[in-house]
Amino acid sequence: MIQAKLGFIGAGNMNRAIIDGLLSAGVNAQQLAVSNRSAPKLDYFADRGLTTSTSNAEVAAVSDVLILGVKPAQLLDVAQELKTICATNKPLVISVAAGVLTQQIAEVLGVDTPIVRAMPNTPSTIGEGAAGLFATAAVSDAQRELAKTIIEACGIAVWVEQESLIDAVIAVAGSAPAYFFTILETMVDEAQKLGLNAADAKALAVQTCLGAARLVQSTETDLATLRNNVTSPGGTTQAALASFSASGLDETLRTGMHAAVMRAQEMAAEAAGGR
Ligand SMILES: NC(=O)c1ccc[n+]([C@@H]2O[C@H](COP(=O)([O-])OP(=O)(O)OC[C@H]3O[C@@H](n4cnc5c(N)ncnc54)[C@H](OP(=O)(O)O)[C@@H]3O)[C@@H](O)[C@H]2O)c1
Repeated sequence: MIQAKLGFIGAGNMNRAIIDGLLSAGVNAQQLAVSNRSAPKLDYFADRGLTTSTSNAEVAAVSDVLILGVKPAQLLDVAQELKTICATNKPLVISVAAGVLTQQIAEVLGVDTPIVRAMPNTPSTIGEGAAGLFATAAVSDAQRELAKTIIEACGIAVWVEQESLIDAVIAVAGSAPAYFFTILETMVDEAQKLGLNAADAKALAVQTCLGAARLVQSTETDLATLRNNVTSPGGTTQAALASFSASGLDETLRTGMHAAVMRAQEMAAEAAGGR
């Protein structure tokens, strides 16, 4: 179990998802502190027993680990604000920001600062997150272990050995819950047009999504075989899949994932240029 004190900078969607995941996993609220520039978002966390503050420095002062969960455009300014306290207290720094490189953070905080880049996703909030992690050379084995334990309290986590692969994690996991939400929205909408009521349409589509994912997890059978198992020649599934294929669904998904990667690369340039 995690013994360290964790300080969350930014009380937005992603940090909240990680905090919810940690609390559900049994981490003591008294080990967690969170800061946000505007006060109202902090009420949710104060109600759950966390230390809260509108001062990032105050939270950093009581933390062994800092989880930076502000938007990429704000991240380096926040790092600048925490530079002195990081030099003194030497916390492990975990950034969840898309598109901000560890080198950019280290240029502000110092090259000997242990920095982990984590790319989690919002299902972390219910312990079903999927995250990629990258550690700089300044991160010790014990700190790697700690970072993984923190993120794994909210789901699964994999290490990548090159930082550029974090962009691939963004494409397949960080941004990807939204892909599935979009697909579900369309399916629920179309099922209603086909005559089902909204509640039944949603229940059926969501359970099918969940069931398909659980089926994949429960077996060694590869994805193509599972797909073939529901695709009788000349049947309804084959008709739907042939239509997807004719409309270029495969290419559409690949292009979308590349768009996510390209946007992450642009954001790194913006974060550097914005200072
Ligand atoms: N959302 C996702 O699914 C997801 C997935 C993976 C990674 N990420 C990464 O997670 C980070 C946060 O994303 P998000 O979706 O959680 O954004 P968000 O909901 O907008 O949260 C950002 C939070 O940071 C606060 N903030 C901004 N500047 C601050 C400062 N100087 N000091 C303290 N707090 C400050 C904001 O406060 P105010 O509301 O007062 O402005 C806001 O609550 C991003 O870097 C993103 O790339 C997000």
